[in-house]
Amino acid sequence: MGKPQGGMGKKDVIRVILVDDIPEAREGLRKLLAFESDIEVVGSGSTGREGLDLAIRTQPDIILMDINMPDMDGINATEQISKAVPTAAVVMMSVHKDSAYLRRAMLAGARDFLEKPISGEELYSTIRKVYQLNANVREQYRQGGAVASAERAKAAAGGSSAGKRAGHIVAVYSPQGGVGKTTLATNVAAGLMREDTRVLLVDCDFEFGDLAVFLYLQSNLSVVDLAKAVEELDPDLIENVLMTHASGLRVLLGPAHLDDVDETNLLTPDVFERIIQQLAGNFDFTILDMRVRLDRLAAKLFGLADRIVLVGTPTLPTVKSCRQVLEVLDGEFGPEKTIFVMNRVTDPREKAGLPLEDIEKSLKRQIEARIPLDEKTMIAAVNQGVPVVAKGRGKSPAKEIVELAELVRRSVSGEDESTSMQATAAGKQERSRFGRRSG
Ligand SMILES: Nc1ncnc2c1ncn2[C@@H]1O[C@H](COP(=O)(O)OP(=O)(O)O)[C@@H](O)[C@H]1O
Ligand SMILES: [Mg+2]
Repeated sequence: MGKPQGGMGKKDVIRVILVDDIPEAREGLRKLLAFESDIEVVGSGSTGREGLDLAIRTQPDIILMDINMPDMDGINATEQISKAVPTAAVVMMSVHKDSAYLRRAMLAGARDFLEKPISGEELYSTIRKVYQLNANVREQYRQGGAVASAERAKAAAGGSSAGKRAGHIVAVYSPQGGVGKTTLATNVAAGLMREDTRVLLVDCDFEFGDLAVFLYLQSNLSVVDLAKAVEELDPDLIENVLMTHASGLRVLLGPAHLDDVDETNLLTPDVFERIIQQLAGNFDFTILDMRVRLDRLAAKLFGLADRIVLVGTPTLPTVKSCRQVLEVLDGEFGPEKTIFVMNRVTDPREKAGLPLEDIEKSLKRQIEARIPLDEKTMIAAVNQGVPVVAKGRGKSPAKEIVELAELVRRSVSGEDESTSMQATAAGKQERSRFGRRSG
């Protein structure tokens, strides 16, 4: 231990990459660092995604990372880098010493923070200090072998070499607003994620979509930029427009401003349908967070979907509207296509909502998943931009949502019920998700 690395016979040089969207900022840092013989700048990038790619390629010791950048911001990038290149330590840079930002940066795995404008002395001492603090991590991975890290890097990069994917499309719909479509779409998408499963989540509400808020994402690019180029969507454009949540989930956002929609008027239902068709082939699952309106766009999306998750709540108006929607969907596609879900389910002893048995009886339809009401957990998750299922899958309501995600996975992949899904009620051996229960 403690012996200097042999081989090159040189003293340790700290390899650094710079990630900042402002060229002058990168240049300034580069100049400051040029005088230090023990620090070498091995690359620089202008977006979080470039930073991630660079980190994977160059395996630096230190990454100086701006927070606000287009495409993938510094926090998302940091989170991904921590997974893909754990030997690299991120130092965040920002003009504002905003405590919420700082907390997120630290949670994402940043080791330190520099407030802009950054002086030379501060910069050198922070880089050297963080490099030293990270020595044991580097040592650990050196011993652990390079193979595992290469695998991790590939997985984090999205396994883009993987080629064609299963392309299942799942539409999440409700005839009512505020019942939990976005909540369930986000969490089902997160619940479907695996290292080998690529998931895309799409905001289909171009006016008031709130996926960006739910996942704490922001971008100047949106589905409108794909609509403009729908004739030939090239992989680079797709890569730039799709956001990457810290979990690795890819997200297609709606336009950030209402004007963007009117201005272009390009995003017709036909164009949107073509976009989804083209994107879906690159993913195992594409989850559509739909809007309430039952218009031509909705009809297109229902048609595209392999499964429709119909979300209701145990209240009279919702049940009434769900009945109407089920009539239409069942008539059009047959009952197998729709998975009927109750959200905001309360303990029957509270007598707060309609009894689920009554709803099943009146709609002649089995409720296939029941997600409990849990304001605190759901709101905290939204405020933090993290899906509920990301924070422990064993506890309600995450547990029930994970079960719903599994139900979706099995129902589209034609797998059989023999796997471990826990039966919640009797009569579970009949797989038909829509069958009338004989109880
Ligand atoms: N099971 C639940 N328990 C408590 N609150 C919930 C639940 N599901 C959703 N919510 C909350 O209800 C509100 C509306 O949910 P949202 O997903 O935006 O609905 P929609 O997309 O259908 O309009 C959000 O504040 C969300 O946090
Ligand atoms: Mg919504």
